[in-house]
Amino acid sequence: MNPFEQKPSKMEDVILPWSRLYPEPYNKQSIDPYTKIRIILMNGIEVEASLFQHQFHRNCQNNDLRRELALIRRIEQQQQKHINWLKPIDETQLETTIGYEHVAVDLTAWLAQNEPNAYVKQALDFALLEDFDHLYRYANLLDLDAQIPAQKLVKSYVDITPGRPTIAEHRFPYDSVKTPIDAKTADIRTKLNTLIITAAEQQTMNFYMNVGNSYHNDVGRQLYQEIAMIEEDHVSHYGSLLDPNCTWLEQWLLHEYMECYLYYSFYQDELDLAIKAIWEQHLQQEITHLHKVADLLRQLEGTEWQSVIPDGTFPKLLQFHDTRDYVREVLAKQGSLTANGQLYAPVSTLPPDHPFFLYQEMVNQDILSVPSHQVISRHQQRFNIDYRAESSPNPVQALSDRTKDNTSFARQHPPKQEISV
Ligand SMILES: [Fe+2]
Ligand SMILES: [Fe+2]
Ligand SMILES: [Fe+2]
Ligand SMILES: [Fe+2]
Repeated sequence: MNPFEQKPSKMEDVILPWSRLYPEPYNKQSIDPYTKIRIILMNGIEVEASLFQHQFHRNCQNNDLRRELALIRRIEQQQQKHINWLKPIDETQLETTIGYEHVAVDLTAWLAQNEPNAYVKQALDFALLEDFDHLYRYANLLDLDAQIPAQKLVKSYVDITPGRPTIAEHRFPYDSVKTPIDAKTADIRTKLNTLIITAAEQQTMNFYMNVGNSYHNDVGRQLYQEIAMIEEDHVSHYGSLLDPNCTWLEQWLLHEYMECYLYYSFYQDELDLAIKAIWEQHLQQEITHLHKVADLLRQLEGTEWQSVIPDGTFPKLLQFHDTRDYVREVLAKQGSLTANGQLYAPVSTLPPDHPFFLYQEMVNQDILSVPSHQVISRHQQRFNIDYRAESSPNPVQALSDRTKDNTSFARQHPPKQEISV
């Protein structure tokens, strides 16, 4: 499918009245976890669409162009509301959070498995293990505070077990800056993957920034605060991969193309008919945006869309599937890595004066009070063991003890690390 070959609608025809903008919320008991993560991801994509267009408009002197931005941005905002209001009233903040980290795991793993650029794939594998650990920490909070097993929410689609422990994810900010891709030579999959993951992580960052303080007890508020700081790192990490040499209009075209690609992918896969109709409706709106931006790019910069997206036909569509074996394999091989400048290295190989250790000392002064450790140790105090849902044992021996949270793996120098696969 090539969205440049599809017929666009008239822009003004796609503004919705309130009655159609407010959707029927899903049923949190019966929704398929993949439908839920598609909803969470597309909300994040629409938030990125709006925020990107706001930044563009603040950096643009051409009022004709700013008016076109205002019109399309208004539609992106309607799409975001249409999707985000699918969340039902009875779904708690923490239940939604489990969905956010589930998306992060299954999305990142899928992108890594379908990424042709080895450097970008490494960036995805690296952060995958961290969101995987966040899922485990929040699942323990959910079980501790509400006695709800997170597996009920994610079904058997994803394992819940420690990844690279959150306490080990705090790194000096310089180490989050990676080498950008070159959009002129990059494969379209790389351009899509980097943009998708940056938008997804940014939405998680925004969500925790805004709602983390409204959790109902201190340990939960503290856990949100700690993990929110990792999401800042992740957004820096992925955002640094985007090509800074693209013009604003080229970036805008890529954003619209990404929106078309995702709505079309999810339209193909969606089993819930009401949600499928939303993906279809939004796809048509995005095709309209894409054609408009291609026209603007030609008129204002003399650039044809083919020089940004050489073949408009979509690459392999994004389809969520079971990634448990893949995640276990990456955890076994890369659990003990940390960032080392623009590359990665096992913590054991870093010199003692590496900024990683400096930053760790700054934030983790008292290990026992670090929130991501606290939530596990409280669960263990109360129920003797942590909360897990594993289809196979954790591949890292050091992370297999359910009675004791490991705070030294991937963090201490030299690490106490044993791996069994
Ligand atoms: Fe959109
Ligand atoms: Fe996360
Ligand atoms: Fe993340
Ligand atoms: Fe759009």
